[in-house]
Amino acid sequence: MNGTTTPDNAALQEAAKRHMWLHFTRHSSYAGADVPIIVRGEGQYVYDQHGKRYLDGLAGLFVSQIGHGRADVAEAAARQASELAYYPLWSYAHPRAIELAERLANYAPGDLNRVFFTTSGSEAVESAWKLAKQYFRLTGQPGRYKVLSRAIAYHGTSHGALAITGLPDIKIPFEPLPPGGVRVPNTNFYRAPEFVADDVAVFGRWAADEIERAIEREGPESVAAVYLEPVQNSGGCFPPPPGYFQRVREICDQYGVLLVSDEVICAFGRLGYMFGSDRYGYQPDVITFAKGVTSGYAPLGGMIVRDYLMEPYLRGETSFLHGVTFAGHPVSCAVALANLDVFEKEDLLGNVRANEGAFRATLERLSDLPIVGDIRGDGYFYGIEMVKDKATRETFDDAESERLLRGFLSHALFDAGLICRADDRGDPVIQLSPPLTCTQQHFDEMEQILRSVLTQAWSRI
Ligand SMILES: Cc1ncc(COP(=O)(O)O)c(C=O)c1O
Repeated sequence: MNGTTTPDNAALQEAAKRHMWLHFTRHSSYAGADVPIIVRGEGQYVYDQHGKRYLDGLAGLFVSQIGHGRADVAEAAARQASELAYYPLWSYAHPRAIELAERLANYAPGDLNRVFFTTSGSEAVESAWKLAKQYFRLTGQPGRYKVLSRAIAYHGTSHGALAITGLPDIKIPFEPLPPGGVRVPNTNFYRAPEFVADDVAVFGRWAADEIERAIEREGPESVAAVYLEPVQNSGGCFPPPPGYFQRVREICDQYGVLLVSDEVICAFGRLGYMFGSDRYGYQPDVITFAKGVTSGYAPLGGMIVRDYLMEPYLRGETSFLHGVTFAGHPVSCAVALANLDVFEKEDLLGNVRANEGAFRATLERLSDLPIVGDIRGDGYFYGIEMVKDKATRETFDDAESERLLRGFLSHALFDAGLICRADDRGDPVIQLSPPLTCTQQHFDEMEQILRSVLTQAWSRI
């Protein structure tokens, strides 16, 4: 990526370096290198400013379910902008938001019938917390405000969402955060404590029971909700052990705690179903969503809520004291409807279900590499954990991880034409979450690039 080619690129580079503030980015790493500039997308691929093509193995950021460059979805946005570009959902409604709310309620499991729109995942996560707190006040349990979530889980970056996020490093600079965030273990079976490491169902039961222990420890009358992703992203794709969510549901019912399924990544086909909770057969009280609802053609998030939670808000002078200007933006809602039309016309859920076995099998070819410790995930959502010693599962120390991931892998994978995520927020992993339109040719391309780059990485250790 060093050097520049066209004058356009030089001007863009200069302006990017002078004026852009990139998210979660060490700007120092661009002191002697170009900022990667993605200019165009088509299907499963994106192109940089030099015309070089990359397989988008991360769907942007777990977003581009239908792939890039769909004119039909872009046209839906243009049509809506000319008809009604903006109107707020504060006391008013507009047709596209109504149609989308009804459609989402129809897709969602059980009596999740009420949709509160936001613009992002963090806002959805915050909104669910505020909904829970106000709900409990309205129903005579004002002491319930705490939220449980899992170690290393990412639930967003605004102060409330960050209090729920379980990644210490990204929280510390912003403390004190809103009080009430409590951590419970995640479902990383590869790193299960020894006394439950032999049987995944026993491990799952233990991890779920830890939620009960945390509720007891905190005082049940103080706990409002537990936030869980169907498959935990951060740490490298931890699927739920068999029976895990069923046990969590029992615990939530027993203690009157809301189960919030944070499906910002896992909804809209990522796991071959509209919602991850469908795949694993559990009933959440709230689903939070964003990302794939529009495949990124416009920003949108929200929460889908069970009827009983809306009940106290339907009476007298009560209202949910919460809102944001651009939530349920008409263009975003029109885009979401067009996106969901593509899901149905092209049977994207069917594509994921039919091909996920092949995706897994293709990635599992990489298990012959000494650096590959574990390959885990479901649907089109996989993490590959890298280890120093396969037999002992010894991981890399911080300095090695820094050298391996930031010093080599991220750049090498990108240079080789694969966009994926090399992440060391837990143990070092590579994450894949490609568009739902991918087929065997794309799985093979991912495997070949990963094989070559991981082999080089091993030789550098
Ligand atoms: C599970 C989960 N929740 C919440 C968020 C926050 O979403 P956003 O970045 O749209 O605020 C993310 C973002 O990746 C996420 O993965």
